[in-house]
Amino acid sequence: MSTDPVGVREGTAADLPAVFAIADTWIGGKSKLYYQDNEQRALIRTAVDKGNKRLLLAELEGQVVGFAVYVMEGEVAFITLVITARDHGRRGVASELIRAVVARHTQVGACNDVGPEMKQMYVKLGFRCIDKFQPGPYRNWVFER
Ligand SMILES: CC(C)(COP(=O)(O)OP(=O)(O)OC[C@H]1O[C@@H](n2cnc3c(N)ncnc32)[C@H](O)[C@@H]1OP(=O)(O)O)[C@@H](O)C(=O)NCCC(=O)NCCS
Repeated sequence: MSTDPVGVREGTAADLPAVFAIADTWIGGKSKLYYQDNEQRALIRTAVDKGNKRLLLAELEGQVVGFAVYVMEGEVAFITLVITARDHGRRGVASELIRAVVARHTQVGACNDVGPEMKQMYVKLGFRCIDKFQPGPYRNWVFER
């Protein structure tokens, strides 16, 4: 297993195939919402348009292994999607992506359709849970930092 640090950079349209390939590693998993849902795919696509959305990529040894999408709502960077390639889990990839958003913006929020493991990750990164709601099969937690 690599001990190289995870690098984070902004994604461009040229990175979209790699990004969707990562989302697709979860096909068949509990997170099917993230790759099948056209709304999520559109969100990812428009994140490279330099509007109010941003796409960050995590790289390990030159390979894209994870990504995050966030939306600027005024001064607040709101993380809406974080996905790590299934075979690169538990190596700090998602944590590094979230840290990169925090390094770029003073106010950071997050609302992810997640299980308790993701909640634990945000708490470890200094976020606090300020709300929760449950419109779909998973609980949505709202965090701020
Ligand atoms: C959830 C997800 C983003 C975590 O990515 P990751 O790169 O593996 O996360 P990290 O390695 O940074 O984990 C940080 C911490 O989160 C928690 N965590 C992450 N995945 C976990 C799991 N499967 N079970 C329990 N805890 C978990 C742990 O506290 C972990 O710290 P530790 O490894 O020191 O114990 C990844 O599993 C994923 O992409 N899942 C599918 C998509 C999804 O559900 N995204 C979230 C909603 S947008």
